[in-house]
Amino acid sequence: MLIKHADDIKSSEITPEQLYLNRRKFIASASAATVGLVASTLIPSSFATAKSGDDFKPKNPSKYNTTEDLTPYKDVTMYNNFYEFGVDKEDPAENAHTLKTKPWTVSVKGHVKKPATYNLDDLIKGLTLEDRIYRLRCVEAWSMVIPWLGFPLRDLIKRFEPTSKAKYVAFETLYSPEQMPGQSRSVLKWPYVEGLRLDEAMNPLTILATGLYGKQLPNQNGAPLRLIVPWKYGFKSIKSIVKITFVETQPPTSWNIHIPNEYGFYSNVNPEVDHPRWSQGKERRIGEFFKQKTLMFNGYTDQVASMYSGMDMKKNF
Ligand code: MTE
Repeated sequence: MLIKHADDIKSSEITPEQLYLNRRKFIASASAATVGLVASTLIPSSFATAKSGDDFKPKNPSKYNTTEDLTPYKDVTMYNNFYEFGVDKEDPAENAHTLKTKPWTVSVKGHVKKPATYNLDDLIKGLTLEDRIYRLRCVEAWSMVIPWLGFPLRDLIKRFEPTSKAKYVAFETLYSPEQMPGQSRSVLKWPYVEGLRLDEAMNPLTILATGLYGKQLPNQNGAPLRLIVPWKYGFKSIKSIVKITFVETQPPTSWNIHIPNEYGFYSNVNPEVDHPRWSQGKERRIGEFFKQKTLMFNGYTDQVASMYSGMDMKKNF
C-alpha cells in the first residue's frame, strides 16, 4: 500500500527495487539499476531459494492449491504491509514483536444467533486446518505465492448462525497503541477495518489463516488470525482480527476511507481496471526479475466470477 504520493514515478516500478536495494541483494550497482540492466546482473542472492521455496511439504494440502513456486519464507515474513507497525515494508518484521497474541479473543456481533466473545483456541477448535497455497497480489503490483495454514471462513460463519438480515461481514483489527505503536500516528483511521459481502465470505476460497509455511503466523503477517481472500488485492486481507460483525449494509473499509477514489469496496484483482496512478496489467513476483501478466481475479475466475455477473466492475472497483 502506498501513501507517499509521487505521481511522476510508477509505484509498481518502485517497490521491488526498494526491496532489493534495502536488503542489499543487488549484485549490480545502484546507478546501473536506475538505467535498466540486463536481467542476469540483477539476480538477487536469494535466487536459488526463490525457485524452490523452502522445500515446504504441505501436511494437509487443499484442492485449491496453485502449483507455482513458493515465495521464500524470508521474503514472506520480512516484506510486509502492516501499518500498525510502520509504513515501510521492513518495519513490521522489526517492530511487531510488541504484539501479544496470547490470550486472544474475537467478538462476534450483529445479525447472528450466537453472538459472543470467543477465546481464539475455543473458536477454532474442531475446524480442519489446511495448507492453502495461494497467490497474494498486492495493489502495488507485486505478488507472492504463500503456503497459508488456515480454515475456510464459511466453516466458522456457520457456527454463528447468521440471520437473514446478515448481508455483509465486517472485520476489525486490534486497537492498542501500546502494542501497535503505528496507531499513535494518523496514517490511517484506526482500528483497521475491512468487509466482505456474505457470499464472498462464504466462498470456499476465503480463509482465515493462523499460520504459514506450516508454522504459526509471525506477528508481522497478522498473528494470530488474519483474513485471506485470494481473488482480491492484498489490502483486503485484514490482520490480527479481534471483531467480526454481521451487518445489513456495506461496511466501511480502511483504504476506502483513506483514499476513496483509489480503493473501492470490492477490490477484485482486475488487470483491466487500472489504479488511478498505475497500471494493474502486470505484476512482479517477489524474488523474480521479469514481470508477468496479472490474471483476472488473480487466476481464480472459475471459482468466483459468477458472484459478480451483471455487475459493472469498473464502477464497483
Ligand atoms: N491489516 C492491518 N490490520 N493493517 C495493515 O496495514 N495491510 C494490508 C493487509 N492487511 C494491513 C492489513 C495490505 S496493504 C497488504 S498488501 C497485506 O495486508 C499484506 O500482507 P503481508 O504483509 O502478509 O504480505
